[in-house]
Amino acid sequence: MLGLLLTGGIYTVLAPAQAEQAQSDEELVAQGRELFLVGCASCHGQNGEGVETVREGYAKGPSLIGVGAAAVDFQVGTGRMPMARPEQQAPRKDVVYSDEEIAALAAYVASLAPGPAIPTEEDYSIDGLSEEEREEAIVRGGQIFLTNCTACHNFNGSGGAMPRGGYAPSLKGVESKYIYEAMLTGPQAMPNFSNGNLSPEEKRDVIAYLRSIEESPEYGGFGLGGLGPVSEGLFAWILGIGGLVGFAVWIAAHTTRTTRTPQTEEGAQA
Ligand code: HEC
Ligand code: HEC
Repeated sequence: MLGLLLTGGIYTVLAPAQAEQAQSDEELVAQGRELFLVGCASCHGQNGEGVETVREGYAKGPSLIGVGAAAVDFQVGTGRMPMARPEQQAPRKDVVYSDEEIAALAAYVASLAPGPAIPTEEDYSIDGLSEEEREEAIVRGGQIFLTNCTACHNFNGSGGAMPRGGYAPSLKGVESKYIYEAMLTGPQAMPNFSNGNLSPEEKRDVIAYLRSIEESPEYGGFGLGGLGPVSEGLFAWILGIGGLVGFAVWIAAHTTRTTRTPQTEEGAQA
């Protein structure tokens, strides 16, 4: 009797909770599908299969099958999507959807096919690290950043130009979650760094590095925007060479000249 009561009791406590969970997942997907049909289907297709039509040289919208919840969370969470019109690059904009709506859209796209999930705080947060662990993470992250990211984002993450009018944005002030998701999903012209390519720990190390360069003061006081050799070279040219030219002119104007009597025609004949 006791056994029966116990199993019965346990069942009634657990079973409806599970059913409710499944129910709410389904509801989330359904809500996401509705939002998708209104806001995204015109470019990404009724079922996220993409729209091939090329308008003014740009494809309307790629297929979202298999891009995963992480891509949606990144694109919609940073305001890149919904795009207003197809153009070279979808820049960061004001976010249109609420957190709950973004979760619904992500759940819907994730339901189309498996893809990278939204990372959890455990994946990207560096708050749990001790002082020493953080130092190590920054060193490793700096090396990873140097080999994988500087080509486009510049050595200190301040961004740079890309072919055909595109650009890699500055990484200053980007939330850790979106740094992680950008690596995971490779938005637009950026390659993706799957977890096989850069492990979750390595991604977190990169985040630690980017946070550290945000915190470090600009030694020397005047960073010239941190844009690297071009702006620094220009600065050196204008101030350095300009200074030298100015100095040369000053010397020329301040030396005593030998006063030569102009050669006259008679003098030349003599
Ligand atoms: C081939 C060039 C390229 C490389 C290499 C690259 N990126 Fe990017 N990255 C881009 C471009 C282009 C964008 C802009 C995409 C967009 O606007 O959707 C971008 C966007 C980002 C963003 C989003 C910034 C924002 O404002 O929301 C982050 C974060 C980022 N990259 C981090 C990285 C990291 C970390 C690495 C190295 C592991 C890396 N990227 C390597 C080109 C690159
Ligand atoms: C005006 C057309 C347009 C609308 C509307 C639009 N998108 Fe996009 N979307 C694009 C284009 C174009 C790209 C590809 C950008 C690129 O790679 O250069 C894209 C890319 C994406 C990606 C990245 C895919 C990947 O491979 O990582 C996601 C995710 C996405 N869109 C989700 C959405 C969602 C969700 C909505 C609705 C809230 C939406 N989009 C609305 C045009 C659109």
